[in-house]
Amino acid sequence: MKKQLAALIFAILPAFSFASGGGEPALEKVDIDLTDKAAMQDGLRTFSNYCMGCHSAQFQRYERVAKDLGIPEEVMMKNVVFTGAKIGDHMKIGMKPQDAKVWFGAAPPDLTLVARVRGTDWLYSYLRSFYEDPTRPLGVNNKVFPNVGMPNVLAGLQGRQVIGCKQVPVVEHGEKQFDPLTGTPITHEACDQLAVLPKTGSLSEAEFDTKVKNLVTFLAYSSNPVKLESQRIGTYVLLFLAVFFVFAYLLKREYWKDVH
Ligand code: HEC
Repeated sequence: MKKQLAALIFAILPAFSFASGGGEPALEKVDIDLTDKAAMQDGLRTFSNYCMGCHSAQFQRYERVAKDLGIPEEVMMKNVVFTGAKIGDHMKIGMKPQDAKVWFGAAPPDLTLVARVRGTDWLYSYLRSFYEDPTRPLGVNNKVFPNVGMPNVLAGLQGRQVIGCKQVPVVEHGEKQFDPLTGTPITHEACDQLAVLPKTGSLSEAEFDTKVKNLVTFLAYSSNPVKLESQRIGTYVLLFLAVFFVFAYLLKREYWKDVH
């Protein structure tokens, strides 16, 4: 009976994973490195320049961030803290949620923990998926977060992104397919495709992707600032247990010698 039950569960599992995968836009994967301080510093700069007008990170203090990312206090005060806050303050903002609701239709949520709530792949994809849509109140929409209330604040860097149909290569088993006669890539028309209009942004596509990746790295750090430290402590704990085990074993042998 147990065996049958297990077989049944395994038979049903793939159906569930398939069901949850359907309908959601595919997310771009991003590989972040929480030991890369330069990346996180760049991310923090972008965050304070482009995001903190509307979003706070109020569970985080400037001082802690400066220390963790290796930023001297004066540099932090001069380049990151624009709100008149002190170095020991939480990263709050002046905008009132009620006002924001009127302006954007939704209040911008606090972003301290957003990387844990949404995941880094989601954030990376979201920030790169704004496109022009004249039917929306702010003229933009987002492929990952349809009908979002947030304006495309990074448009100056990325350029004007539009959505439409274009020819994309046919890929099978992870490989592009080529016409055996002419050797040219086989394409098919796909719609819902994002494309940046050339020369409309101040960064190239690759530079923009790095900028966003750095920003996401900063947000990932912010959502779990002790992660690196807990990994370090975890190693010590395991080492300690290993050494302790040897002594515990020797002691046990010593005691049981007399019993046998
Ligand atoms: C002009 C104000 C404004 C600025 C600047 C801004 N946002 Fe937003 N953001 C919003 C609003 C409003 C929402 C809520 C949208 C909604 O719910 O429809 C939002 C939502 C979000 C969300 C989705 C949160 C969730 O889980 O629902 C993320 C992530 C986000 N913003 C990140 C950023 C980042 C990163 C930046 C800086 C690059 C930024 N925002 C700059 C107004 C802003």
